[in-house]
Amino acid sequence: MRLKGAVDVITGASSGIGEATAYAFARSRARLELGARRLERLNAVAEKCLKLGSPAVNARVLDVADWSSARAFIDAAIHDHERLDVLVNNAGAGWRGRLQDMPEEKVDELIATNLKGVIAMTRAALPSMVERRRGVIINVASVVAFRAAPYSALYSATKHAVAGLSHALRGELSGSGVKVCVVYPAGTSGTEFHKEGERGSGPRYSAEWVANLIVRTARFPRRDAMVMRLRLVDLAEPVFGGLMDHAIGEVRRRDVPERTPAS
Ligand SMILES: NC(=O)c1ccc[n+]([C@@H]2O[C@H](COP(=O)([O-])OP(=O)(O)OC[C@H]3O[C@@H](n4cnc5c(N)ncnc54)[C@H](OP(=O)(O)O)[C@@H]3O)[C@@H](O)[C@H]2O)c1
Repeated sequence: MRLKGAVDVITGASSGIGEATAYAFARSRARLELGARRLERLNAVAEKCLKLGSPAVNARVLDVADWSSARAFIDAAIHDHERLDVLVNNAGAGWRGRLQDMPEEKVDELIATNLKGVIAMTRAALPSMVERRRGVIINVASVVAFRAAPYSALYSATKHAVAGLSHALRGELSGSGVKVCVVYPAGTSGTEFHKEGERGSGPRYSAEWVANLIVRTARFPRRDAMVMRLRLVDLAEPVFGGLMDHAIGEVRRRDVPERTPAS
């Protein structure tokens, strides 16, 4: 996909990976439609995108968890540009702890943002992309879509669901000119995702690094875009899978206030 002049929608562009992705696309001179719930933050991002070289930027309030908000956002983007080239489904929410301690509202929020949000935006964007026989949909999953993380059970489940949805849809759309891709970030710095004091594990990638991966994926759409560390984990899975479950559980338990009683 040629990015100069392309019309790109980015959800969750008010902070972190989405914000960095907006800047990376702006440098490629793409036209941008930025969505999130915090309009003030989005407006500041939009202003910077114009300075970086984007010829046109719109910032609009978007709640991906709301069907009508998702539809209205995509309709407005198509109304302004008469087309849509790239959709980056980046908006996401996380929660860490024991599944049994997770407040019900958080359960609903994660499913609504991470899964229903991707479905709502994709369903709204597809008719126009399919009609033009052109488009790239990039769904931002996570390493946990690949290897589920203890104490992030529901988050892992939503990201597995996003990967499954994307792969199935990619097949459904084969030959249509529309490509569906999954990006799997690992722990990323420069975002609001991790609570202060949360230790996390392993080195972190920068939000800019992930943004560049997303932009490369838009330029050269591929099924899965992942970091090398993840490929190694995948190779090790058949032999060391059980050991990895235990080790990751031990590491992540340190961030959880109460230990699960030994059974
Ligand atoms: N940071 C990491 O280590 C990491 C690792 C793997 C994957 N990821 C994934 O990367 C993506 C971006 O996360 P991030 O790290 O950049 O975190 P972040 O800084 O917290 O950004 C999340 C973004 O999503 C938006 N958002 C949340 N709920 C929304 C809703 N209902 N409607 C519209 N926008 C919504 C937020 O904006 P508003 O609050 O303004 O709506 C914000 O812009 C997520 O999908 C996350 O799962 C992150």
